[in-house]
Amino acid sequence: MTAGAEIAGLCKSFTVGDRVVSVLDGLDFTQRDGITVVLGASGCGKTTLLRLIARMDVQDTGSIRIRGTGSIGMVFQEPRLMPWLTTVQNIRFGLGRGACDTQRLLELTGLTGFEKALPHQLSGGMQHRVALARALANRPALVLMDEPFAALDQLTRERMQDQLLALQRAEGMNVLFVTHSIDEALYVGDRIVVLTHGRIDADHDVAHVPGQRSRAPDLEFTRLIRSTIQGEAPC
Ligand SMILES: Nc1ncnc2c1ncn2[C@@H]1O[C@H](COP(=O)(O)OP(=O)(O)O)[C@@H](O)[C@H]1O
Ligand SMILES: [Mg+2]
Repeated sequence: MTAGAEIAGLCKSFTVGDRVVSVLDGLDFTQRDGITVVLGASGCGKTTLLRLIARMDVQDTGSIRIRGTGSIGMVFQEPRLMPWLTTVQNIRFGLGRGACDTQRLLELTGLTGFEKALPHQLSGGMQHRVALARALANRPALVLMDEPFAALDQLTRERMQDQLLALQRAEGMNVLFVTHSIDEALYVGDRIVVLTHGRIDADHDVAHVPGQRSRAPDLEFTRLIRSTIQGEAPC
């Protein structure tokens, strides 16, 4: 297996006022190749998990190892572009000289012709594509994505999901993709793990027919996931 997160016994709690809130409670997880989706309800600890993996925060106990070599890219829920920088400057922000082939990234993300645009001159979907291109500019072996398309309208979101699948095929990086959407998880994921009660509670491989991912809702899977999240046994 190439790059990926290996997590054992991960615990993280926050102190809010005089209350200690346990968010991650002994989470174990070994990432495999491809696109792994971490699916969970809002507030279950998905962002906390990604922030710990990206070393933006520190766990209470437990270990996180990043297997393999290469850099890590991160895509947030909002594009977080520098408003005073153009598309190309945003993509190259923080890179050494010659670290990436910007032209190729622009083509891959459909931004050719918008090299000199400032973020406010781009649509929401295009700003997300710039953020995606920026995350890929270092040729990362692992990309962490935190509900990257949640703020987009449905049509743009579907286009971005297809773009991500195409990019992953072209670049071969592994992706840890966080979402609260069961349909999105089923469409982009090669594997779906469900985060609930501070742990990974279910682990599903998704059997896609090559080249034919379906957007039709999978009622059986949806029912199974709902029962996992709600803590009821599926019947
Ligand atoms: N810095 C923080 N201080 C206090 N509580 C936090 C902090 N970050 C997250 N939390 C709490 O941890 C829980 C999980 O948050 P989060 O990881 O953002 O969930 P998700 O991304 O799944 O919606 C929430 O109850 C949230 O209020
Ligand atoms: Mg979150």
